[in-house]
Amino acid sequence: MIYAANFKTNHTRQSTQKYLEALSEKLHTKKTEDKVYIFPPSTALDVYSGDFTIGAQNAYPAYNGAFTGEIGVEQLDEFGIKTILIGHSERREYLLESQEKVAQKFSFFQEQGFEIIYCIGEPLEIRQKGFDAVMEYLPAQFEGIDVTYENLIVAYEPIWAIGTGRSATVEKISATHSALKKEINDKPLLYGGSVKLENLKEITGITGVDGVLVGSASLDADSFSKMVLS
Ligand code: PGA
Repeated sequence: MIYAANFKTNHTRQSTQKYLEALSEKLHTKKTEDKVYIFPPSTALDVYSGDFTIGAQNAYPAYNGAFTGEIGVEQLDEFGIKTILIGHSERREYLLESQEKVAQKFSFFQEQGFEIIYCIGEPLEIRQKGFDAVMEYLPAQFEGIDVTYENLIVAYEPIWAIGTGRSATVEKISATHSALKKEINDKPLLYGGSVKLENLKEITGITGVDGVLVGSASLDADSFSKMVLS
C-alpha cells in the first residue's frame, strides 16, 4: 500500500521536523512493502531521514529563472527531492491551473525523471449526473498526460469528498477505480478525499485501490502513523 500525506498549507518548518522525527520512530515497524510519502509545504522542504519519501506539493516547470514566488528544480535538487504532486484540484481551482498548464508541468517533470503523483477528480455537479458523466469527465484530465510514464502514480480524488469529512462510498470508489485502471494501464491508483483511520481499511480493501492520499487526517504524526501501521 502507498500512504501519502499532503500537508497543503499546514505545518511550519519546525513542526514538520518534529512530525518527521516522531513518524520515523513509529515507522520502524512498518511493512517493508508499504510506501510512505510526505508532501510538506515548500518552506519545510529539507533532507530528512526516515523510511519515507519527501515530495513537493508543487513546483514551476523550470530549472530556475525569473518566476517570482515559485520554486524550480534547482531548489528541489538541493534536498534531493524527486517526487512531485501535479494536478491537485485545489491548484486547478484556486490557482487556475488549466489542463494545458498541468500537462506542460507533467511533461517537464517527466523529462526530469520525477516520480509524479498525478491527481484527478470530478466536482459534485458531475457526480450528481451519475457514473457515465463521471467517466466522461475524468478522461479529459488525462489530456496531454503520458499515462505510460513508468514513474507515474495516479490519485483519484473526487472534489466533493476532499476536506468534507465525507469520503466516497465503497461502491463509488470501486466502480471508478476499476474504470480508471483501464485508462492508466494499471498504474498504481490512490484514492483521496476524507480518508481517516475510521474508513481506511474499507477503502484500502477495495480492489483497484493501491493506496491513499490523505490531507486533514495526515496532519498529526500519531494519527497518520496509526493509519500506516493499521
Ligand atoms: P482530505 O484531503 O484528506 O483532507 O480530504 C485530501 C487531499 O486533498 O489530498
